Parts: sequence; structure tokens; C-alpha cells
Amino acid sequence: MKIFVTRTIPNAGILKLTEEGHEVVVHDGPVPLSPSELVATLNEHNPDAVLCLLTDKIDATVFDAAPHAKVFANYAVGFDNIDLTAAKERGVLITNTPDVLTEAVAEYTVSLILALGRRVVESDHFLREGNYHGWEPLLLLGTELKGKTLGIVGCGRIGRRVAEIMHRGFGMKIIYHDRTENEELETVLHATYAPELSTLLLQADVVSIHLPLTEGTHHLFNEDLLRTMKPSALLINTARGPIIDEVALARALTEGVIAGAALDVFEKEPDVHADLLAAPNTILTPHLGSATNEARNAMSVVAAENILAALHGETPPNLIS
Ligand code: GLV
Ligand code: GLV
Repeated sequence: MKIFVTRTIPNAGILKLTEEGHEVVVHDGPVPLSPSELVATLNEHNPDAVLCLLTDKIDATVFDAAPHAKVFANYAVGFDNIDLTAAKERGVLITNTPDVLTEAVAEYTVSLILALGRRVVESDHFLREGNYHGWEPLLLLGTELKGKTLGIVGCGRIGRRVAEIMHRGFGMKIIYHDRTENEELETVLHATYAPELSTLLLQADVVSIHLPLTEGTHHLFNEDLLRTMKPSALLINTARGPIIDEVALARALTEGVIAGAALDVFEKEPDVHADLLAAPNTILTPHLGSATNEARNAMSVVAAENILAALHGETPPNLIS
């Protein structure tokens, strides 16, 4: 069978596919295929399965360009780039790569919390710009985490792991908001459940977003919600950019409504809003949450396993719909 991969990924998964005798075609261009290029390429190759990325918008037009594809395996845990209704209508299976990137994203989130709280990026720039003239008692003071409250917004696998690291390692108190209460988390991490997001925002010193992007979470963090946060609060987003209204956040940072933000994801990637680029106390990174050798290799294997199961007529291990 023929499998089309929309961009070069670590080889481990590709090997799994070729070892079974499948033909794998990888687009290895320097940038993602544009929507029209993707359609043209699928038309040309007519694959039996597609391994796609979060940078590919997979909609009805794309499915129709690959009418023989049984499965689109997304190389990501999130799948907001895929039109699930259009997939269902055509009987196309959709899979993702959960679990294997949980540790990578959680550790990256922790690194952003620490970098923001201790002004690591700003301090590096300060030194390189020639401003370091000797130790000073009041130079670049940051904030400690021990005993402070971490608000986890969306307590799935990644949110839970961030909570665990920050509670066990840094002595932070955990408050979490989710659709469902998690009694295990309350027992093990002494976490407090906030059925209302505003309750969490009123209390949290650090707020970390771990929600999927859906119609319900789009621009959830708007001006009103940001105003609910403490003026000293730090906001971290390693989930999906459109969960935050970027213009409202940039204004909140500039006006001191909140103290800082670290963002790894943006509303219109790869573009970053000019107001955010100009906002104070802000760390901006290019969607690197899962960017470890371990996670990206494992994601490659998991995506391949999902494809192989679908091609064998079995239920893929990470079937979304
Ligand atoms: C990365 O953002 C992912 O969803 O895997
Ligand atoms: C994603 O893996 C999540 O559950 O947070």
C-alpha cells in the first residue's frame, strides 16, 4: 500500500511502514505544503493512508483528494486541524499520538514557568546587550514558586503531569479546573477542584493552560477573564494559541493587568501578533512543547502503528473518530 507523509519526521515510524513492504512517499520541502499543494500532491499519489501534521489543515477538500485513504494519522496529540465531521461522513479514520509526548510538553511547560518567574530570557538579553556592570542587590528580581498556587486549566495527561512536577518538586499548591473532578489528584497532590474557572483565576499565582482547542475554548481567555487574574499572575500556554485572545492579552500585559506570559503557541502560527512581540515580561517560543528526540521519535512510531492497524482492518490504538 502507499502511504503519504506530509513532511519529514523522525525515521523510526517510516521504517516500521517500509519494513512491512509499504511504499512511503515523504514530502521533504522546507515549508509545509500549502492547502492547494497538498490537494495536488494527494491527487498525484492517491495514497491508502496519510500521515499529517498539525500544520496541515485537513478538511473535506483534502479528504476528497485522497479518496482511497482509509486513515489520516495526525502527528500530534491535538487534532483541531482536522474536520472530524467531514472525516466521519467519508468513513475516514482519524488518529493522534497521545501519551508519548506528555512528559516532553510537561517538562517544557515547567521550563517556561521557571524562565518567566526568574526572568531568564530577559536576563540573557540584558547581559548580551552589555548592561552587566557588576552584582547588584536589586538587579532583575524574580519570584519564587514554593508555597504559591499553580492553576491548571484543563487537567488531562499533560496538565496532571505539570501539577505533579510543580507540587512534588517545587512545593506549589495546586488548583485545577476541568469538566470533571479528579479525586485521585486531590488525594495524591492535595489539589483543589475549581468547577468555575474564575475561582481558579482569583487564586492562582501561575496559570497554565492545557485544554484542547474547540469551539468552546476559542478565546476563552478574553479581556474579562484576564481581568479576573491577580496582577502578579503569570500565564503559560503550551496548548493551542486561539484559546487566548492575543490582542486582549497584549493589552493586559502592557497595562499591568497581569505580570507576565510565556507562550509556545499562537493564534495564527507561524505569525505572532505585533502587540505580543512588543508586550513586556513575555517569553515567546516557536511551538516546541513536544520537541524532544524522545517524544518526536515515539510520535513517529505511534503514528505508524495507527496507520498499520487501519490498513490491516483493525481498530487503531489511538482512534479519535
Ligand atoms: C502539539 O502541539 C501536539 O498537539 O502534539
Ligand atoms: C493531552 O495529552 C492531555 O491529555 O493533556
